[in-house]
Amino acid sequence: VEAALMDGPLRGKHVLVTSGPTHEPIDPVRYIANRSSGAQGTALARALSALGADVTFVTGPADVPPPDGVNVVKVQSAQQMLEAVQTALPADAAVFAAAVADWRVVSASDSKIKKDAKGSLPVLEFAENPDILATVSQMKKGRPPLVVGFAAETDDVMANATAKRVRKGCDWIVANDVSPETGIMGGSENAVTLISDDGADVWPRMGKDDVARQLAARIADALAG
Ligand code: CTP
Ligand code: CA
Repeated sequence: VEAALMDGPLRGKHVLVTSGPTHEPIDPVRYIANRSSGAQGTALARALSALGADVTFVTGPADVPPPDGVNVVKVQSAQQMLEAVQTALPADAAVFAAAVADWRVVSASDSKIKKDAKGSLPVLEFAENPDILATVSQMKKGRPPLVVGFAAETDDVMANATAKRVRKGCDWIVANDVSPETGIMGGSENAVTLISDDGADVWPRMGKDDVARQLAARIADALAG
């Protein structure tokens, strides 16, 4: 690691990575969230750092600990994640591996919501969260030269991921099938397709650490080229 830090291909480059889920509070004891261990984003931050990058790692409450040697910014909600990302810019590349909750509760309660004796149910009103990837992809000034998103899908993976890349305006999308039968959610392996302007590159199934190392190498190539 020491040698890589001295002469790695990403030395002097600032790379931003988002990772993990976000938690959107309902009240002080309850929240809504996406399922995400944070394993792939964490592995990616570690791999980028091993290539010499100066990594800012903006993470929601993940299952796995953040890597050593990166600048860790811990957040809870999507709105906090967006603010942390904007504060961390500029960057040479930004990779959005977080599983951001799409909706937040409009007015989270300051005190614990109690069960009603008559059994009447609480009604939650939702608002859409900011799309962090789209916001950064579409920046008029100071957009990172390389913006990478993830698309975890259960159906029509390629069509959904390809459309997502265009809609959000990012350069690359890392697409994967997270149907329960794949065992990818919460597991140690991943099977991804890298979608760019050049088309779709199907990678074989491999460990999340290996996906991370290959993606970090591709990012290093892109920033060098
Ligand atoms: N993303 C983000 N901010 C959000 C939602 C998503 O930055 N509020 C990013 C994710 O980190 C990921 C990419 O956008 O890199 C795709 O996320 P995904 O949930 O697949 O896309 P959505 O546009 O939210 O579409 P869907 O309806 O499929 O959830
Ligand atoms: Ca989403």
